[in-house]
Parts: sequence; structure tokens; C-alpha cells
Amino acid sequence: MTVLESLKLATEYLEKHSIENARLNSELLLSDVLNCKRFELYTNFDKPLKESEIQKFREYLKRRAIGEPVQYITGKANFYGLEFIVTPDVLIPRPETELLVEEILNCYDHNLQLKILDICSGSGNIGITLAKFFENSIIHCIDVSEKAIEIGKLNAQRLNFKNVAFHKIDILTQKPIEKNYDLIVSNPPYVSESKKQSLQKEIRLFEPHIALFVDDELKFYRRIIELTDEFLVSGGKLFFEIDHNQAMNVKSLMIVKNFTNIKIKKDLADLNRIISGVKSI
Ligand SMILES: C[S@@+](CC[C@H](N)C(=O)[O-])C[C@H]1O[C@@H](n2cnc3c(N)ncnc32)[C@H](O)[C@@H]1O
Repeated sequence: MTVLESLKLATEYLEKHSIENARLNSELLLSDVLNCKRFELYTNFDKPLKESEIQKFREYLKRRAIGEPVQYITGKANFYGLEFIVTPDVLIPRPETELLVEEILNCYDHNLQLKILDICSGSGNIGITLAKFFENSIIHCIDVSEKAIEIGKLNAQRLNFKNVAFHKIDILTQKPIEKNYDLIVSNPPYVSESKKQSLQKEIRLFEPHIALFVDDELKFYRRIIELTDEFLVSGGKLFFEIDHNQAMNVKSLMIVKNFTNIKIKKDLADLNRIISGVKSI
């Protein structure tokens, strides 16, 4: 069977299992099996696949057909131009979160020596990307999940960024180990438990619930904003990713704590997604 033939069969198979973007999914999985770039499939349409490659592709397709996300099958996800290792212990980095990083990158001179805290760091996608652009800065990433911390460390090591460190901390009951951060960023769990059933099965059945769901949508924002008293320098900035329904509530929490210059940015779906502010006292 050739590359082209296997792609056609795979696409039909995934379509039958109601997988959206079946062709794209097939290409992503096959390029991982063949260890090549997706566009290289197009220049190798007539190349015959080895039996072992067909076997591996078949296994991948079976997993995709029951809803497992491509990124967990291949073990990789792209975020802001970097490739991150992902396992089902960490959330798959989202394009919305790239906007959060972009917002931060637009706010600072990249040569500054900042002390940055990434709360709820997961795979380390935010902290590590900031480590790349802010070479002279120090980034501390914290997460409650031991396994997420391991993945974060692995990603930093693989991508060779030495200015980022990971610590296991439960932000709801513990505090960061250092003070005086110039910038605090967080993409905390913010999906209400009550919305669980309405989510795609890719998310509901495969992504870590600890990364997504909360009984109280404002719990993490309240706690992190509270902690800025002690851990964010005066004039320091706070950046959050938010559920679009919570923009005004998070803004109110920030106003109460005397944050100024509060900005809310929309995502590509035109929904409020990023909020930031400056600690004024
Ligand atoms: C929405 S994910 C964000 C992951 C990553 N920063 C990203 O943007 O893709 C939320 C993260 O919060 C972590 N988390 C959940 N409860 C926590 C807690 N009490 N303290 C610290 N981290 C927590 C989860 O393990 C998960 O990695």
C-alpha cells in the first residue's frame, strides 16, 4: 500500500467514526509514523509503506477513532513554534493560550531581567515559551500535579532552556516559595463542572480533569489575585486566561485589589479570553 492509498483509506475510516478533519488527522498521524513533515507526504504519495508502518498507522487510527486526540497519540503538541511533549497527564496546549503569551511578549522589552511566575504550568508551554523570548529572565513554573511537573522539566530539558524551573505546589493551599515576581501569569482550570457533559469527548474523556474542571469558576482567580499582595512587586503585571463569561467578574476582583490599566483581549472567536492588569500599590 502506498502513502496516498493509506491516506485515502484512513480518511474514510475516520470519517465513518465521525472524526472531524479526517484527512488532516490522517496526515498528522501518518507523518508521525513515517517520522517526516506533513508536507513531505505530498512528495512521497507513491512510496510503499512497510508492514511495520502499516501496523503502527492502524493502531494510531484505532485510537483516534475512539476520540483520543492526535497529540496524545503522537505524544507531541506545537505551541508558539516549539514542540512540547504531552501525555494524558497534561492539558494539550491551546491556540488561545498562544494569545496569552503574545500579549505578554508585546508588553515588555525582551532583554529585561524579569522574575516570572507561571501558576498552573501543565506541560510548561507558557513558562518555557517565555524562557525562550526572555533569555535574561528567570521563570518559575508551579503545578499541583507531580506528573505535569515531570513533563514540564522534560520539555525544558529537551528544548534546552536553563532559565526555567519547576516546583510542585498546590496554589490553593500553599504559596510560591519565592517573592518579588515582576510578572505572574496563569491559565488555571476554569471550566465549570456543570459544563462537563457539553464538551467534546476528546476533551471530556482524554484530558486531565484536574486541569480543566472546577466547582467554582473563580476559585483560582480569587486565590491568585489574593497572593499578588505578597508575591507580585508593586508595578508588576498579572496576566490570566479566562472563560469569556468570567471577564467582568475577574476584572472586579482585580479592581478590588487596586489593579489598574486592566485590559481584556478577545480570542479568534471574538470571545473575551485574556485579562491583564498592573498592581498599583
Ligand atoms: C488549564 S491547565 C493549564 C496548563 C498549561 N499552563 C496550559 O496553558 O496549557 C491547568 C493546570 O493547573 C494545574 N492545577 C490544578 N489544580 C491546581 C492547584 N491546586 N495548584 C496548582 N496547579 C493546579 C493542573 O494540573 C493543570 O496543569
